[in-house]
Amino acid sequence: MTSPTLTEALPYLDPELPIAARVADLLDRMTVEEKVGQMLQLDARDDLDDHVLRHHVGSILHTSPERLIRANELTAQTRLRIPLLVGEDCIHGHSFWPGATIYPTQLGMAASWDAELVERVARATAVEVAATGIHWTFSPVLCIARDLRWGRVDETFGEDPFLIGELASAMVRGYQGDGLDDPTAILATAKHFAGYSETQGGRDASEADISRRKLRSWFLPPFERVAREGCRTFMLGYQTTDGVPITVNDWLLSDVLRGEWGYTGTLITDWDNVGRMVWEQQVQPDYTHAAAAAVKAGNDMVMTTPGFFEGALDAVERGMLSSSDFDAAVTRILTLKFELGLFEDPRLPQDALDAVVGSPAHADLNLEVARRSLVLLENDGTLPLPAAASLSVAVVGPLADDAQTQLGDWAGGSGQAGWLDGQPRDMITTVLDGLSGVDGWTVTHARGADILTLEEDPRGATFPDGQPRPPVVVPAVADEALIADAVAAAAASDVVVAVVGDRIELVGEGRSTATLELIGGQNALLDALIATGKPVVVVLLASKPLVLPASVSQAAAVIWAANPGMQGGRALAEVITGAVEPSGRLPISFARHVGQQPTYYNQIRGQHGDRYADLTQSPAWAFGEGLSYSTVSYADLAVSSGPLAVGDTVAAEVTVTNTGSRPVRETVQVYVRDVVTSVSWTDRELKAYRQIDLAPGESRVVRVEVPVAECSIVDAAGVRKVEPGEFALLVGPSSREESLLSASFTVA
Ligand code: NOJ
Repeated sequence: MTSPTLTEALPYLDPELPIAARVADLLDRMTVEEKVGQMLQLDARDDLDDHVLRHHVGSILHTSPERLIRANELTAQTRLRIPLLVGEDCIHGHSFWPGATIYPTQLGMAASWDAELVERVARATAVEVAATGIHWTFSPVLCIARDLRWGRVDETFGEDPFLIGELASAMVRGYQGDGLDDPTAILATAKHFAGYSETQGGRDASEADISRRKLRSWFLPPFERVAREGCRTFMLGYQTTDGVPITVNDWLLSDVLRGEWGYTGTLITDWDNVGRMVWEQQVQPDYTHAAAAAVKAGNDMVMTTPGFFEGALDAVERGMLSSSDFDAAVTRILTLKFELGLFEDPRLPQDALDAVVGSPAHADLNLEVARRSLVLLENDGTLPLPAAASLSVAVVGPLADDAQTQLGDWAGGSGQAGWLDGQPRDMITTVLDGLSGVDGWTVTHARGADILTLEEDPRGATFPDGQPRPPVVVPAVADEALIADAVAAAAASDVVVAVVGDRIELVGEGRSTATLELIGGQNALLDALIATGKPVVVVLLASKPLVLPASVSQAAAVIWAANPGMQGGRALAEVITGAVEPSGRLPISFARHVGQQPTYYNQIRGQHGDRYADLTQSPAWAFGEGLSYSTVSYADLAVSSGPLAVGDTVAAEVTVTNTGSRPVRETVQVYVRDVVTSVSWTDRELKAYRQIDLAPGESRVVRVEVPVAECSIVDAAGVRKVEPGEFALLVGPSSREESLLSASFTVA
């Protein structure tokens, strides 16, 4: 192959030409090897020279700052000098960039129920990411978390499709900014399309046993929303559904996504989805067939299946594919590159990136979102603690001062990247740091318990594809000496703050848990602390809802902090001392026992009875719940509209009063019940919410609206429709039926 002289005369290099013309010109010049390579995204930690020079890759992911520069030097040596698209999992901040701002996890952010705030976090993340030469984030996650055993609950926005849609839409807007020619815009990815979270027993990436009707009812709507709103890329889940891997699921990809929704964006597989069809799911005999099937199903970018290259070329050789079969995918990928302007400016790391990455302004935003992510679940009046008083506080527990664990998965220390071992300690405020900074307080610290140790899996340290196999978690035994230290610290203090939860080894891909209890010595620690009779504030620093021991019913307060990010300890100190009012609301329900799974609020009506013989079905804390330091009453719900048509809007007013003595940010939640449905349906679904600030004693008439078109169900034929008849509008502070006021309306 002779190298053409790259002069401005080549049409694809002419920025004055329309993008479609540039793409067509470039596509015309590409060999079949270059086209196949363009569809490949390979791991930058492997042999970069081979990726770029021999495999002609279109994209890389997981690149360290140094290898990013090297990759670009390599593309300069290629025949057509097609710039690389650089992707990364910047999930809650620029996860693996040393010194980047790490925010609360997606689940933590979801507890804010604040789309505008989430959009600002995504915008700030994009600014950091774009400055470092990365063009594409594999975020947000739109999976519905319904089984708390699943290891990736922390990556979701929780259990409700409406809330997921609101927050995901905001996040996509934030990442993509004013359009791809905005130098701070990055490509967003809606993932994992679709149904990936519907696991068997919480096991990661198992067959999702889910009907098309169920997909259309709850799992697809958030994806449809961001598809129609222009999320530029979609990532396909690992799993099979009804026997068909999503990677080759024609119905989902062609009929629904491209067809019904008219999606014109770019699809990327998840990690080695194409290879998995051969070695894991065993639904393709070899890489030739797998590659041919993936191309025919309409995949654009194939993540980390090096064998796709040889497989696709072999498929061409054997007449299973023709060279033009790659054109649609390559056109989409090249179009993104032209739209990002990479041929003119490959958007390499900027000289001034230090001024942007981890900036003080982003730390302020991080503090704001961390505050809003905290959910006060219980409080006997002990909180807020008096900040000005000279108080002695025992800060105990294995997570009180564990900076990297506080950041959660997809952060510096979580292991996916390998070129950094945690984010800088001095950027992180732990709970101990935060409380130690309260003026006038004497703070003591005791670890009190260990959580776990690790052992290598007896079956070996790697999976068949060479990926590391997670080691086996061995819960630590309760250590009497550690507990005695903590009890002594508690006995010598006015109040105890106990920080317990989970660790990264219990979170993430392939790390689902069979149990939901606090593991290791943590339950014994809580039991012993509570037995001292001192007020114990339990801070649950847990990636997902966990089950707390019975003794916690005697705790003074419980706060769920998810993984609250770099500013988490400071935000917790502010809430504990009342400098900031708690305002988070649960985006996901908490179980009392793992055997209650699933505990999501919007389950289908109809079962014998409403409890287990040995346990209630009621969750410990339900979707939408969360306390403030004040009390709030709801009264006089009135639906103003008469009989309604599908094009109308249900409007209602409700009087919300702050009946306590502290300010409150209240999340007024609006659920809809369709009283009789042609097929079984959930009793109530969130359809709207409003957040209002009320001063002590203040009362406000709050107007809420729901378009009638949203009061829909999916019928037996899989068609979403509004069924005429009686409905109830339910308004209140949480999804619990007993907390909601009800007013009926009729759709004619
Ligand atoms: C696999 C994960 O499922 C996906 O969410 C992630 O974006 C890719 N790996 C890339 O790291």
